[in-house]
Amino acid sequence: MFKYLVALLSFGLAIWTLPEWFSVGSCLLKPWLLQPTAGLLHQDVLALYNGNRSSKGLYLAILGQVFDVEKGRKHYGPDGGYRFFSGRDASRAFVTGDFSEAGLSDDVSDLSPSQIVALYDWLTFYEKEYTPVGRLIGRFYTERGEPTEALQQAEAHLTEGLKLKAQAEEENRVYPACNSEWSSAAGGRVWCSEKSGGVHRDWTGVPRMLFSPGSGRTRCVCVRLDDRTRSNNPHLRQYKDCPPHADSCLLSQD
Ligand code: HEM
Repeated sequence: MFKYLVALLSFGLAIWTLPEWFSVGSCLLKPWLLQPTAGLLHQDVLALYNGNRSSKGLYLAILGQVFDVEKGRKHYGPDGGYRFFSGRDASRAFVTGDFSEAGLSDDVSDLSPSQIVALYDWLTFYEKEYTPVGRLIGRFYTERGEPTEALQQAEAHLTEGLKLKAQAEEENRVYPACNSEWSSAAGGRVWCSEKSGGVHRDWTGVPRMLFSPGSGRTRCVCVRLDDRTRSNNPHLRQYKDCPPHADSCLLSQD
């Protein structure tokens, strides 16, 4: 008798956990049978977690990583200002700010390296603030949970973006930006101070135009005249009608 009871219980348990066996890798089962806790979710399962009345909860995905954002229901719930992020991966919109249906896409292939850096900053935010649920099968993860080429490309752009960011920070340290002001009566003025460009330092420097060959643009930077190597940079130009040692220059109208 006991033997039959054990067999019956085992059979019952096996039937009960059946959906979990299939939640990784198979789309044959109806979405409502699939359990998200197994670590991999299909898009149609994620869509059930959009916070609507009949929904199973509140999830969103970014770069293929799924988070439970129930804690932020005021943002992501049906009445929240960011409800369109729920139940989907709209990675692209996190950096473009395009919240139209077309803009709420997971295609990040044409974003610039610096946009990809900003996107990973959002991912870090979700990792810190919300509970991870798993990975979304689709653009960034395969049926087996492996990173796709799209994710590898995003990661390569991240590396490049971080390098460019570090270079820009170093350039800003060496050539801090000037303060600037403009009024219709007095015109423009640029000047240097020991805090200009957000770089706290023990020197002031003099304003110079720094030409960026890549962008074709110029910006005002503060240059240490006692540092020969840096002040002799061929991409630096003096402001017209401004004495070479002045720490403030009026901008001519022409
Ligand atoms: C690319 C553009 C933007 C994106 C992707 C974005 C996204 C978000 C997201 C996802 C949240 C919720 C964060 C959380 O889970 O706590 C949030 C919160 C917030 N956003 Fe935005 N946002 C954007 C632009 C803006 C702009 C332009 C403003 C202001 C003019 C703004 C104001 C706010 C405020 C005030 C909150 C916090 C609300 C609160 O804590 O009650 N956002 N944003």
